[in-house]
Amino acid sequence: PVAAPTALVIFGATGDLARRKLLPAVYNLAHDGALPHGFRLIGVARGELDDQGYRELIATAVERFSRRRPDRDVLARLLELATYEPGSFDDSELYVRLRQRLERFDRDDCLRHNRIFYLATAPAFFAPIVEALGAAELTRLEEAEVRAVVEKPIGRSLDEARELNRRLRAVLEERQIYRIDHYLGKETVQNILALRFANGLFEPFWNRNYVDYVQITVAEDIGIEGRAGYYESSGALRDLVQNHMLQLLALIAMEPPVRFAADPVRDEKAKVLRAVRPPAPQQIDEATVRGQYVRGVVEGEEVPGYREEDGVDPQSRTETYVALRLAVENWRWAGVPFYLRTGKRLVRKLTEIALTLKPVPHLAFQAEGGIAQQNEIVLSVQPNEGVAISINAKIPGSRMQMRPVKLEFLYGSTFLSESPEAYERLILDAMLGDATLFTREDEVAAQWAICQPILDAWARKGEPPLPYQAGSEGPAAANRILLPGHRWRRL
Ligand code: BG6
Repeated sequence: PVAAPTALVIFGATGDLARRKLLPAVYNLAHDGALPHGFRLIGVARGELDDQGYRELIATAVERFSRRRPDRDVLARLLELATYEPGSFDDSELYVRLRQRLERFDRDDCLRHNRIFYLATAPAFFAPIVEALGAAELTRLEEAEVRAVVEKPIGRSLDEARELNRRLRAVLEERQIYRIDHYLGKETVQNILALRFANGLFEPFWNRNYVDYVQITVAEDIGIEGRAGYYESSGALRDLVQNHMLQLLALIAMEPPVRFAADPVRDEKAKVLRAVRPPAPQQIDEATVRGQYVRGVVEGEEVPGYREEDGVDPQSRTETYVALRLAVENWRWAGVPFYLRTGKRLVRKLTEIALTLKPVPHLAFQAEGGIAQQNEIVLSVQPNEGVAISINAKIPGSRMQMRPVKLEFLYGSTFLSESPEAYERLILDAMLGDATLFTREDEVAAQWAICQPILDAWARKGEPPLPYQAGSEGPAAANRILLPGHRWRRL
């Protein structure tokens, strides 16, 4: 499919996200010839730049952050299509100028551009910008589509998320709103659906009869990377669980969609998210663990503790690690615990989902260490993208002895082409008008409904997070949320 002519308007056009992710993604789409005929890029931000200054900023960002070394001609052609509109997001004049500019592009190119307003700003501006776009009559077009791409976070709480969604919906229809969860743009995350629903192999055991437990890990070795202002008011649960990890859970646990299209897929995700039961307040200690990193060594380098990071309160109680046990209350999953853990400054970067199958009912053989390991299906999201199934195999020799071995598929050796970055896929989908990989209002609400009671219970207890050393696997207390016989995989 080819996207219709599009004017992509990036609010927050000089910010971190734009420079690190969005502009390099647009460049790579240009490189692949994936930008539509009649493409235009308009950067909007407060900084007093002119078009030329913004083009230089784009070139620098692409050189620095693109996965490809930029091709001079492709970059030069892209820069010609880019312009900049300085202004303060709360100034109604800005939107008048923006409208004039968009209308001029339509006249110059002799066509109607679809408009995509990409909100890559601080979250406090999401609703005001959309309201100002509405007031300037920029959100309804006769012969073209208007869409808004909204970054995370959608609120800091269930109430804030509802309020933000209400304000967006007062101006835009749900089908115009593209809420980003960049995990959905990752190849390996989309492959969860391919693995489950394009193969007959897995479905028979993908349920409570055979799966003992599920664990989802998002481990990071980086710290907060200068984002103290944001992170201090967020913490690991809001930053990673409320969005990315619950989306991973939804894809793993959902029922088969009838079609791979926006609403059928999102209907099933929303349904399973509504079936997730957070721990009850009296179970908060046995089912959740909060941690915070202290000084330690990551990859041979000494790094400061969280409370010593620039801009962090020396007495901060913000969690940089969280482990949770959740229940999914439906026919497929009743009784199967879903364990989630994520943390900053852990020993290494690793995102994976592992399903551990129930043990065999009776073992007639000898296994190394005396017990046969339970089979595991591990979906490795990053960095060693692939899928591995562990089985027990006979060790060659005259005795009938077992040891676990792996059946493995690795992206790197199977598909020789490099995967596009998540943002490339998502920006392209927004231009194509395909919302399958964006989150719908009811999913976001369900995700908050899982997290809010946990945040409330933590707030009521008022306990500080448990310290863990930077470069470790997180607080040892993470083991206390596991049911008997279950174990975390090594990081
Ligand atoms: C972001 C979080 O949404 O996801 C960051 O705000 C986190 O704190 C990042 O580091 C992780 O993304 P990825 O693609 O590196 O796994």
